[in-house]
Amino acid sequence: MATTPFSGLQTAMSRSCIPSSQRSNVMAFSGKSMVGSWNKLASVCHVSSVQPFQRVFTSSTIKFERIVTKAMSDSSQKSLVSGLPIDLKGKRAFIAGVADDNGYGWAIAKALAAAGAQILVGTWVPALNIFESSLRRGKFDESRVLPDGSLMEITKVYPLDAVFDNPEDVPEDIKTNKRYAGSSKWTVQEVAESVKEDFGTIDILVHSLANGPEVTKPLLETSRNGYLAALSASSYSYVSLLKHFLPIMNPGGSSISLTYIASEKIIPGYGGGMSSAKAALESDTRVLAFEAGRKRKIRVNTISAGPLRSRAAKAIGFIDMMIDYSIANAPLQKELSADEVGNSAAFLASPLASAITGTVLYVDNGLNAMGVGVDSPVFKDLDIPKDQH
Ligand SMILES: NC(=O)c1ccc[n+]([C@@H]2O[C@H](COP(=O)([O-])OP(=O)(O)OC[C@H]3O[C@@H](n4cnc5c(N)ncnc54)[C@H](O)[C@@H]3O)[C@@H](O)[C@H]2O)c1
Repeated sequence: MATTPFSGLQTAMSRSCIPSSQRSNVMAFSGKSMVGSWNKLASVCHVSSVQPFQRVFTSSTIKFERIVTKAMSDSSQKSLVSGLPIDLKGKRAFIAGVADDNGYGWAIAKALAAAGAQILVGTWVPALNIFESSLRRGKFDESRVLPDGSLMEITKVYPLDAVFDNPEDVPEDIKTNKRYAGSSKWTVQEVAESVKEDFGTIDILVHSLANGPEVTKPLLETSRNGYLAALSASSYSYVSLLKHFLPIMNPGGSSISLTYIASEKIIPGYGGGMSSAKAALESDTRVLAFEAGRKRKIRVNTISAGPLRSRAAKAIGFIDMMIDYSIANAPLQKELSADEVGNSAAFLASPLASAITGTVLYVDNGLNAMGVGVDSPVFKDLDIPKDQH
């Protein structure tokens, strides 16, 4: 199986309980609060059939307040609807690194879709079957709901393994691996060629993938192979993606990756060379911003995201501790929602960020700015203000 069009998703997407005149570019829901939102949505919309790929709504009276969720409830969200919209209509995005609805890639896809962009995704080959069948079976339908009540449409899912640039790079054991057997044309070069063949050009490129086989090992215990594998999957994969997609990116386009504070500050437990890989990714962001800016007027930025309970993060093993630590110590004492990162990516991809390139944008409730952990017992007698809400 080479590539998979999801034409059924288009049908679902075109049906909404909000008339198009009332649609807005306010951003996506948090996964956690979706169920409540969905119930509210269902209570005001007549759901005449609920099948995979097809939910039909017939009501035109829903108001945005009814579907506001935790991630949308602060003042920055209100300003989005009050006259400075993020408008990506007519733009096409390729998001590499989406294999479920829990990670940053999915949240970014939703935010870009909510702003009107067409969504193509690249999914790691071994995860492709389960992702496609889950999509088909409607497992992600609740997470696909956009602020206007429609479902995010994924126009096409491309199999991708970003550690291989072209077919000549693929070793025999991968070629014969049964997890790769049903797919073809999944090296970076081939995926870029397929996207060109299918759609001609793109405007937005997102790299939301990482892998470090020895991530749980301290750097001092990391093997050469483990270290190089972390850099290959998590850093060079971005250089390769941009290199191969740049010729089909429309001038004025935008490219975004995801990084982590472990690139510049010590985070024990984020091992196996992953901290080094993120440092490389951030350095490359600056160099690529220069090269892609000069060559094709493409902006290149990276988002340094706070902790999220994604599939990849759970594999590292201490994600809950990092979330607790952030809530205890960050200037903003709240759990980071993937949608807050999605919204920031939509901003970076939009003309509103037309002069921003080569930057690391922190989307982490401000944790990066702290010099000490204020929950340390040594500060027990200091009067440290706490979020009262
Ligand atoms: N979750 C966090 O706390 C956190 C914090 C900061 C930055 N990030 C970064 O966000 C990005 C997305 O990660 P996430 O945490 O949302 O997890 P995720 O599991 O949703 O995303 C990682 C994706 O990478 C894909 N992948 C792995 N190897 C691949 C390969 N060779 N080719 C193609 N795809 C491959 C996986 O299939 C998966 O879909 C990563 O760069 C990660 O380092 C995550």
